[in-house]
Amino acid sequence: PPPVTASTVNWTRAQPPLLRFLHACYANFLPEDGGAVADYIPELGKADPAHFGIGLATLDGHVYEVGDTRIPFTIQSMSKPFVFALALDTLGAERVERVIGVEPSGDPFNSIRLNAENHPFNPMVNAGAIACSGLIHADKGDGAFEYIRQALGRFAGRELDVDEAVYASESATGDRNRAIGYLLRTNGVITENVPDVLDVYFRQCAILVTARDIAVMAATLANRGINPLTEQQVMTPYAISRALSVMTSSGMYDFAGEWIYRVGVPAKSGVGGGILAALPARLGLGSYSPKLDKHGNSVRGIKVCQALSAHYDLHML
Ligand code: DON
Repeated sequence: PPPVTASTVNWTRAQPPLLRFLHACYANFLPEDGGAVADYIPELGKADPAHFGIGLATLDGHVYEVGDTRIPFTIQSMSKPFVFALALDTLGAERVERVIGVEPSGDPFNSIRLNAENHPFNPMVNAGAIACSGLIHADKGDGAFEYIRQALGRFAGRELDVDEAVYASESATGDRNRAIGYLLRTNGVITENVPDVLDVYFRQCAILVTARDIAVMAATLANRGINPLTEQQVMTPYAISRALSVMTSSGMYDFAGEWIYRVGVPAKSGVGGGILAALPARLGLGSYSPKLDKHGNSVRGIKVCQALSAHYDLHML
C-alpha cells in the first residue's frame, strides 16, 4: 500500500468524532431563532444574536472549539459558582453556610424572596450571589473585586478583563439588585456598605470570557479544582464539590429540576448568553449564544447540552 502522508489522509473523515459532533450541533442549532437577547441591562442588548460558539475541554487539557469561541462576552451569573467556591475557601465553610442556604428556590434568578430564616435560598440566585460578594468584601475590603478577578482568571488559565460599558450599564439600572442588597443587610446577611458590595457584584458579572474560557473553567470544576491547561490546583476540592452541588440543584433557576432530570449535568447559565456545564471527572462545556428563553438561559446553549448529553449518554445518574 502507498505510504500514508498528509496528502493521502482524508482530513474531513480524520476529524475526531467529538469535533464532528460539535460541528453538527453548530449547524443544526444555528438556524434556531427562539428567544431574545437580554436588554434589561441595556448594554447587553447590543450583543449580536448570530454569534454561536461551542467549546469543550477534556480533563487531559484538549479544547475542542466550533464557531465563535473567541468572541468575548460577559460572564454574568456564571460567576456565581466560582465566587461561592472562593467565599468557602476564603472565609471558611461554616461562616458562609451560616448565612446562605443551599435549597432550590423555584424562583427566577432575580427574585427578592428570602427563605424562612431571611437568608438567600442558595448562592446561584442573585440574593445568594450578592451575599457571597458581601462576604468577600468583608474579608478583602477594597481589594475584593481584584481578588475575585484573579481567582476567576486561574480557572480560565489567563487574565480576565472587565467590560466597563456593561458594568456601567448594570450599575446605572440595577436597582432591584440594590434592593436585594439592602434586604440582606437589614437581615444581617451582609455587614458591609451596600453600594460597595453591589459594585463588586456588578463588576464580577461584567468579567469578559469566551466560550473557550468557559469550557476550561468548567473542566477545572470537573477536575476537582485542577486547571487541565495550567495543571494548577486553583481551589480546594471541598469548595469545588459544593459549587457543583449548588449548580446541580439550582444552577438553571426555575428550570433546574427539568434540567437535571433531562440533561443530568451540573450547569450554570448567564444572561450574557453563556452556559457552563461541568460533568465531574469527564469534561467541561462552554457555549455562547445570546438569545435567552424566559428563564434567562441561552436557547442554543440548552440545545447543545441536551444533544451532547443524549448522544454521549452523559447523564450522571
Ligand atoms: O444580576 C443580574 O441580573 C445579572 N448581573 C446576572 C443575572 C444572570 O446572569 C442570570 N442568569 N441567567
